[in-house]
Amino acid sequence: MSVVVLISGRGSNMQALLEAGIPVSAVISNIAGAAGLAVAARRGVATGVVEHRRFATREAFDAALAAEIDRHAPRLVALAGFLRVLTPAFVAHYAGRLVNIHPSLLPEFPGLDTHGRALAAGVKRHGCTVHFVTAELDHGPIIAQASVPVLPGDTPATLAARVLQQEHQLYPRAIRWFLDDELVIEGDKVRVKGNHAQMVASDRA
Ligand code: GAR
Repeated sequence: MSVVVLISGRGSNMQALLEAGIPVSAVISNIAGAAGLAVAARRGVATGVVEHRRFATREAFDAALAAEIDRHAPRLVALAGFLRVLTPAFVAHYAGRLVNIHPSLLPEFPGLDTHGRALAAGVKRHGCTVHFVTAELDHGPIIAQASVPVLPGDTPATLAARVLQQEHQLYPRAIRWFLDDELVIEGDKVRVKGNHAQMVASDRA
């Protein structure tokens, strides 16, 4: 019983999961040429492609995607740079076992271009969030967050790189908690058993 990871591109978070020893049974993408698929295949992980552009509706795509995922009978489905909005039916099918990593300190900056928007807003700290996925985009119960400073002279690219380093630490840790049955969902909040920090503040530039 392991993890299926969904990607749309580079797959650096997926790679971080593999390098941390997370048991990943398959990596599936909605984009045939996603660079991360080759990374997974080189490491001997099964890969799959379900191209959204081949389906007339979101519902049909999500049903095909779920069928491909369920062949692996995963305990957890992890979105890692999977850039598709999922239907309520898909989200309900994986209720409580579908997680995402988002490059902002939710509930700030849901959606796209989070780093540019953080700079435009003048925030002094920015970061990333791992959360359970619910039907409302980027709004599910928060499992863990990591924050970094926003520095003078930052561009969206420099800020993204600083946040990404934290993503690569945070996502494996949060998924390990899930697999070890350490997460307790209480309403719309998530508590972790034991003495684990759910908020990490990095001051490294
Ligand atoms: C990551 O920064 C991830 O947080 C973000 O896409 C990037 C994927 O990079 N996800 C989202 O924006 C989801 N809304 P990766 O393919 O190298 O992991």
